[in-house]
Amino acid sequence: MARNTYYQDETVRPEINIKQIAKMMKYVYPFRKVMTFVVISMLASVVISLLPPLVIKAVTEKVIPNADYSLMAKLVTALVGIGIADIGVNFIAQYFAGSTGQKIIFNIREDVYSNLMKLPFDFFDSRPAGKIVVRTTNYVDQMATFFSNTLVNFIVCIMRIVVVLVFMLFLNPILTLVVLASLVPLLASLEVIRHFSRKRMRRLTAKISNRSAFLVESIMGAKEIKSFNRKDYNAGIYEDLQNDVCREYIGYVKVSELMTIAFETLWNVGSMCLYAVAIYLINERPDLVTAGTLIAFLSYMSMVFEPFNTLSMVLQQLAEVSSKMELVLEIRDTPSDITEKENAVELKNPQGVIDFEDVTFGYEPDTNVLEHFSLHVKEGSSIALVGPTGSGKTTVINMLTRFYDVKEGSVKIDGTDVRDMTLHSLRSEVGVVMQDPFMFKGKIIENIRYGKIGATDEECIAAAKKIHADKFIEKLPEGYYTEIGERGDGLSAGEKQLISFARIILKDPKIFIFDEATSAVDSETEAIIQKSLDKIIEGRTSFMVAHRLSTIRKADKILYIFNKGIAEQGTHEELIEKKGLYHELVNL
Ligand SMILES: Nc1ncnc2c1ncn2[C@@H]1O[C@H](COP(=O)(O)OP(=O)(O)O)[C@@H](O)[C@H]1O
Ligand SMILES: [Mg+2]
Repeated sequence: MARNTYYQDETVRPEINIKQIAKMMKYVYPFRKVMTFVVISMLASVVISLLPPLVIKAVTEKVIPNADYSLMAKLVTALVGIGIADIGVNFIAQYFAGSTGQKIIFNIREDVYSNLMKLPFDFFDSRPAGKIVVRTTNYVDQMATFFSNTLVNFIVCIMRIVVVLVFMLFLNPILTLVVLASLVPLLASLEVIRHFSRKRMRRLTAKISNRSAFLVESIMGAKEIKSFNRKDYNAGIYEDLQNDVCREYIGYVKVSELMTIAFETLWNVGSMCLYAVAIYLINERPDLVTAGTLIAFLSYMSMVFEPFNTLSMVLQQLAEVSSKMELVLEIRDTPSDITEKENAVELKNPQGVIDFEDVTFGYEPDTNVLEHFSLHVKEGSSIALVGPTGSGKTTVINMLTRFYDVKEGSVKIDGTDVRDMTLHSLRSEVGVVMQDPFMFKGKIIENIRYGKIGATDEECIAAAKKIHADKFIEKLPEGYYTEIGERGDGLSAGEKQLISFARIILKDPKIFIFDEATSAVDSETEAIIQKSLDKIIEGRTSFMVAHRLSTIRKADKILYIFNKGIAEQGTHEELIEKKGLYHELVNL
């Protein structure tokens, strides 16, 4: 599978992808009324902006030759009125466009987040967290601008061009043709420049994403960076990544500036042509063009040039947003490979009989970790999994919790395939304590409450007491209300494990899984945990991956996982008797 890192650019296609934009329109549809209102207001603003040049025309034609001051006063008042109306209409349009854009993006964000939590683990394995963060924050923000601004601008530009051109044609067809002719070189050169600018933008985006990936990785690995003396070395890497961003940014700015230069130059050339033709006509054919018309036309010309410039900018934004949309939509649309069937059943009060039937599984398509793995577990019995690192113990558990689905065969609880159950009910009845449990930033009691939404403080404390975690918690400055850092900084590994035990006790599942859950606690604490656990798991089915003999030997059945399956199984005594792999392990 493709694995991306901070030094590999995440590539996207630069084209405007109509399909994707159409997909996004689904989010705009509920707001079609307010969007229509915005477009109409913008149209009104376009029409209003046609008026001032006419006023100026009247000034040159009527006020100046006749020194008509009373008309002048009226025209000035009209200009002020027009100005106020234009500002008002624009304000209303911008307000609604902006707030609607935010509402649209709110829904997109929600969809992205809810799917993010359903994505297959492989999605997270395949790219750095920083790049996923950039996608769900920066890119989505840029899409917000698209919906509140770009989209409306696009429609308004087209309207503006059409309205102004029609008006100009009506006013003076000859001068309109001159303006149209001068648009051709402008559009051609803008298109060429934008082609390069798009390329630059794409590279810049990838570099920014790389930098974020490295940054997030550095924050998560801060301790390792310090302890392995990588501080300066990593600062060097960051500097390189920064330089990449700067270089691409400067390149992008250079190309973008070319655009301003081209626009200004061609605009000047265009207006010179307009002057030349108009002055010639004013002298030769005053019936066709007047000085007032020329002045009005200079304004109208900018009214056409400007939206063309905006339009090509909008098209560029569209291309940029479209390429980022692809990355955001990937998060939204990547199907979870662990899905629920439509007629999935609830796993209610299970007895806890578990069957692995001829299970074959591998993380990669061409290598299997387990092959033809079969196992029957009686209700309420305890299973210990032992075997070398990487032999597949955690994988066996991943099948039962349905973190991954089997390739072949099936895993059943009380005779029902786990794939036929609702995920919620399955995960409510199967509880896992992992080797390296994750702690969330906040109070200890909140971290225990993770086991059961809405549990009272008393329930949380009772759970902690059952596993004797209260001993260390009560010694902390603020007891259960002590704040711990992200990932549980401020606690020892063993203490984190105790908290995760309390979580699972609070959750109270029928099937318990402990995956090297006591590897970080000292033997004395482990003995205490073991005693409490014996009571807790009584009558429940349990799986335990452990290394300490004291934990393993009491299990009803011990499985020695090796070579893609069960190499040996039996009770401690039976396996010792057998003098095989387990015996060897114990003697070590
Ligand atoms: N997410 C993963 N992607 C690819 N390979 C994996 C993944 N998780 C585990 N493996 C591989 O599967 C094999 C079994 O791993 P695991 O079940 O975790 O072993 P253990 O017995 O130590 O718990 C190992 O070779 C490991 O490298
Ligand atoms: Mg493991």
